[in-house]
Amino acid sequence: MTLDLTRIRAQFPALALADDGRPRVYLDNPAGTQVPQPVIDRMVDCLVRTNANMGGHFRTTIDATELVHQAHLAMADLYHANSEREIVFGPNMTSLTFQMTRSLGTRFQPGDEMIVTAMEHDGNNTPWRLMAAERGMVVKTLPFDPHTYEFDLAQLDALITERTRFAALNMASNLLGTINPIAEMCARLRAAGAITYVDAVQYAPHGAIDVQALGCDFLVSSAYKWYGPHQGVLWGREDLLQTLPVWKLEAAGNDSPNRWETGTQSHEGQAGCIGAVEYLQWVGQEFGGEFRGAAPAGCSARTADLHSAMRAMAAYEESLSERLITGLRAIDGVEIRGITNLERLSHRVPTVSFTRPGLDNTAVARHLADHNVYVWSGHNYALPVVDALGIRDTGVVRVGPTHYNTLEEIDTLLALVADVVAAH
Ligand SMILES: Cc1ncc(COP(=O)(O)O)c(C=O)c1O
Repeated sequence: MTLDLTRIRAQFPALALADDGRPRVYLDNPAGTQVPQPVIDRMVDCLVRTNANMGGHFRTTIDATELVHQAHLAMADLYHANSEREIVFGPNMTSLTFQMTRSLGTRFQPGDEMIVTAMEHDGNNTPWRLMAAERGMVVKTLPFDPHTYEFDLAQLDALITERTRFAALNMASNLLGTINPIAEMCARLRAAGAITYVDAVQYAPHGAIDVQALGCDFLVSSAYKWYGPHQGVLWGREDLLQTLPVWKLEAAGNDSPNRWETGTQSHEGQAGCIGAVEYLQWVGQEFGGEFRGAAPAGCSARTADLHSAMRAMAAYEESLSERLITGLRAIDGVEIRGITNLERLSHRVPTVSFTRPGLDNTAVARHLADHNVYVWSGHNYALPVVDALGIRDTGVVRVGPTHYNTLEEIDTLLALVADVVAAH
């Protein structure tokens, strides 16, 4: 069974918008996805019916407290966490990560080593490098192969020493699209006694997450990348979340997640996360039939639905990747910066970045925007990646379809890119 794009797209009001008769073609999804109706309904309902602080005795506060609890449960199911106490909400991935540097930094001594990969978005790069500088730590960078756009795990082995204490790992690159072997990487780092912090921001919209199988210590994603609202969501091992020193108010609770969730949180954002999980669960129930049984053993029914959903979406997205990669490669001089081997599409998300000598990436993005086709150009905050490729100043054109995009939309993009290339 494959996705029914008509029914999928009907869930997203933004996909029906047109400007001067021209439909909007959203290929900017790695920067943020559109939201389905359940997200909007949940957020509106939160603001109408449960708009109060938590922990009181009247109806709105009781409902707000329950809503926040349900949001943590929903995220625990999405990540396949052991408990909702392992889920920490925050404004976005970057803020949560900076917060974690304050707490984790206290564990490290001068001369301790950390590994950061060359595939990081700056959000999982600069915060840790600042922490390292503050603590006198040594930073080692795990390079990727500029031909295969993948890591060689022997190089990771070579970087690990008895002083390795921490690693920041990218699960899927926001520029290259590569999906990295996080479980294998974490196993090696765990054996050395290192703490692992996984950036799943670009993986979460396209693949099922199972923090228990990954064997990491922390994992973070942003709901606005996986069809939800602007909201960061961190998972951490409960013993660490419960015992790490934390910068919190005296008045705030001492148990996780309260000790991490500073001030008053965005209840409407958390409500929207429930809506996004409900949408994904619907995808799993409607279209995930052939992927039943792929879920983690003993998981909840909701986690099983979510795993079916993500697998069904990924299977469809491979057809988008194939059309995009094949089409771009047929355009004179275009170079794709990422995996192009069609046998290895399951090792990438459908984010495809390209360059062409002599072509101004910003001009391409503008030309596409003139035709209501949305993409991003530049470094896309993937500073270690563009530095490794020697293209920090110019960057790439990044095309990021997701499961609600059609093959026709890819063809529209390809025709426009071909036009702009032909005009040069
Ligand atoms: C891989 C990756 N990590 C981190 C971030 C930062 O996320 P946020 O905007 O939630 O801070 C992004 C945003 O694009 C990203 O793509």
